[in-house]
Amino acid sequence: MYPESYPRNQWYVAAHSDEVGRTLLDRWLLDEPVVLYRKLDGTPVALVNRCIHRQMPLSLGRLKDDRIECGYHGILYNAEGRAERIPSQPHVPPACRVTRFLLFERWGLVWIWMGDPDKADEGLVPDHHWITDPEWGTVRGSFLMKARAQLLNENLLDLSHLEFLHAGSIGTDKIAETPVTTEFDGRVVRVSRPMYDIDCPPFFTKVMGITGRIDRGQVAEYFAPGFHITHVSAKPTGDPDDSRKCSQKAIHCVTPARRNTAHYFWCHARDYKIDDLKVAQLMRQGMQTVFQQDVDASEAIEEIISSYEPAYPIELNLKVDAGPLQARRLIQQMLAAEKAG
Ligand code: FES
Ligand SMILES: [Fe+2]
Repeated sequence: MYPESYPRNQWYVAAHSDEVGRTLLDRWLLDEPVVLYRKLDGTPVALVNRCIHRQMPLSLGRLKDDRIECGYHGILYNAEGRAERIPSQPHVPPACRVTRFLLFERWGLVWIWMGDPDKADEGLVPDHHWITDPEWGTVRGSFLMKARAQLLNENLLDLSHLEFLHAGSIGTDKIAETPVTTEFDGRVVRVSRPMYDIDCPPFFTKVMGITGRIDRGQVAEYFAPGFHITHVSAKPTGDPDDSRKCSQKAIHCVTPARRNTAHYFWCHARDYKIDDLKVAQLMRQGMQTVFQQDVDASEAIEEIISSYEPAYPIELNLKVDAGPLQARRLIQQMLAAEKAG
């Protein structure tokens, strides 16, 4: 069934870069309270968001240069998480410190490592270059979902839902009945659904300017535990000229917040009309609307399944679930490996 928790020796997205600044940002990640901010030199910092003294959230304190002063009794922590001052006594014991989490910033995203720091390897993060590549136009957004992360991971691996959940925007007839090919490659799951001679969805007409019948490419690629890249392409059916093909990368980063809530950070990159502000605005609104439908579905399902806990209602797996089921297996394998290690 759904994983009970999430591996910690992995990178997750903690925030879009522009969310982290000189105000204290309070955020639950992997069931831990975290506070994020930037030092004066711009380096992002993440500390556990609870003072070692009486567990006051540090995000309710004050930022003083690169340090946080707890808003309760004034302990001053540096960006490494070490206390430098306790106002009520001269001695600062070495145990007076809070956990600092490793971060790195790339492609306009802040990535966090909440496990064993010795195992942190930036090479584990898959390529997301489209987000900041000047050849691509990007819009972005985020949601805090009242649903467990796995529901969204599985939504993104079974795109037969486009025809029903996103009817009228990116969904059209015949999507669900087009067969998929599912490939497994280590921590990667790839579900491909090439669609030939099908209707152009209304939203593609709006942003791409294509009408009539199209050949539509769709590859849902998942990198366990929390990254998805949906590779999308469209061109008029039978058009021999590939230069008229429009491509898009929908990038979804799913980070568990609490057990039954998750952060959904999304970026959407396109290789056409990249400087067209009207298309950018349409894309931002259109994707926000479509992804909100996925969030709404996940939240509605969460309400049902969490009402059955600790049991789960019986579910039926279909052919199209090979990808989602493998996603569950991969998370379970990562958890088992961490436990064994
Ligand atoms: S709770 Fe932070 S100084 Fe007391
Ligand atoms: Fe969707």
